[in-house]
Amino acid sequence: MRSPSALLPLAALIALAPLARHARSAEPDYQWNLPKGFPVPYVPPDNPMTAAKVELGRYLFYDARMSVNGKASCAACHKQELAFTDGRATGLGASGESHTRGAMSLVNIAYSGSLTWVDQRLSRLEDQALVPMFGDRPIELGLPQGAPAFIGTIRADTKYRSLFAAAFPQDADPFTIPNVTRAIASFERSIISARSTYDRYHYGGDDSAVSESAKQGEKLFFNQHLHCFRCHGGFNFSDATVSEQNADRRIAFHNTAVNLAPNDTAQFKTPTLRNIAITAPYMHDGSIATLDAVIDHYAVGGRQHSNLNKDPLIGGFEISAEERKNLIAFLETLTDRELLRDPRFANPWPGAGKIDGN
Ligand code: HEC
Ligand code: HEC
Repeated sequence: MRSPSALLPLAALIALAPLARHARSAEPDYQWNLPKGFPVPYVPPDNPMTAAKVELGRYLFYDARMSVNGKASCAACHKQELAFTDGRATGLGASGESHTRGAMSLVNIAYSGSLTWVDQRLSRLEDQALVPMFGDRPIELGLPQGAPAFIGTIRADTKYRSLFAAAFPQDADPFTIPNVTRAIASFERSIISARSTYDRYHYGGDDSAVSESAKQGEKLFFNQHLHCFRCHGGFNFSDATVSEQNADRRIAFHNTAVNLAPNDTAQFKTPTLRNIAITAPYMHDGSIATLDAVIDHYAVGGRQHSNLNKDPLIGGFEISAEERKNLIAFLETLTDRELLRDPRFANPWPGAGKIDGN
């Protein structure tokens, strides 16, 4: 099945998404090199991973020509050095319009059973990419329907001519929006974060990788008193995690009393906590500035208003100064410093840093 064309209305595209999630991926020419504890990610059968698509996707991800005014690329809001977040409370689009929510980390996104903070039906990265490209509420990249100028650009660019030919060798005319989103999705799936000090300690058996304080903090995180793990569990610290084995798992969404409006009952995906020490400010609205303040938030049981939809697990708890320090030390072990400067995920364009509009 071919991906839907970008000429369809966005809502129709997204409605198609869950249909395409089933079968297993076909013979991928791609080495995941996954560490212990990491299952093979689910990959949609109509877009098997290949090294050529991943590489093309990287060029597209960093190309500011893919925006209404040449001012922003995906990387404008998803910066490698910030684990693919942007350091802002809410995203800022190419034309200066603010998003209502904060940019999310893209690490281990291949394992996410749903995409964005709130959308319970959006699960394919190929479909999600159309939202920043073509969406106008708010404008992110602000491309016009069909993106004729951008298609002209990729058709004429000598670098893209060879990248598209290598990525889509069967296509007589590979310069299409569905192929653009296939390549971007493949690049995103390749961004695996698994080399934190926690991974060295927990999966690699290096007992000296983390401090005694972090080990105490890990115990707190996983105990029944704080029960952070009830939502942030598993190798990716999120209960929205799927893999090739369980791609159709139902994902839980939660209201953790972050919402400022008392009657806002919206529920959110549990984000991964990998690299959390460097992705402030926190929560869907960027309303919590530090990890210390996040712990305050959970300790008092969330924002104190008559929230009718608050998850029963957000009940509050007592925590001593020592325990708080340990919990933060544990969260800090989840940073994967190698990922932040791994050349495979960096801006491939000459004069790197210029073309992403920043
Ligand atoms: C203007 C800033 C901005 C730009 C540009 C942008 N994003 Fe995002 N991204 C966001 C925000 C904000 C969210 C959260 C959206 C929401 O919850 O509605 C997000 C969410 C995502 C998610 C979901 C992550 C998750 O954990 O569920 C993916 C995937 C993603 N973006 C990929 C991309 C790609 C690919 C591009 C380029 C085609 C892109 N983004 C361009 C700001 C941006
Ligand atoms: C009931 C499920 C649940 C429990 C229990 C829970 N969380 Fe969360 N966590 C979430 C959800 C959902 C969000 C996103 C909420 C939002 O943005 O409105 C979140 C967000 C976060 C964030 C911010 C992530 C980001 O990218 O901005 C941190 C940090 C965090 N949680 C840490 C913890 C810690 C530490 C504990 C234990 C004290 C904990 N959580 C307990 C579900 C949970």
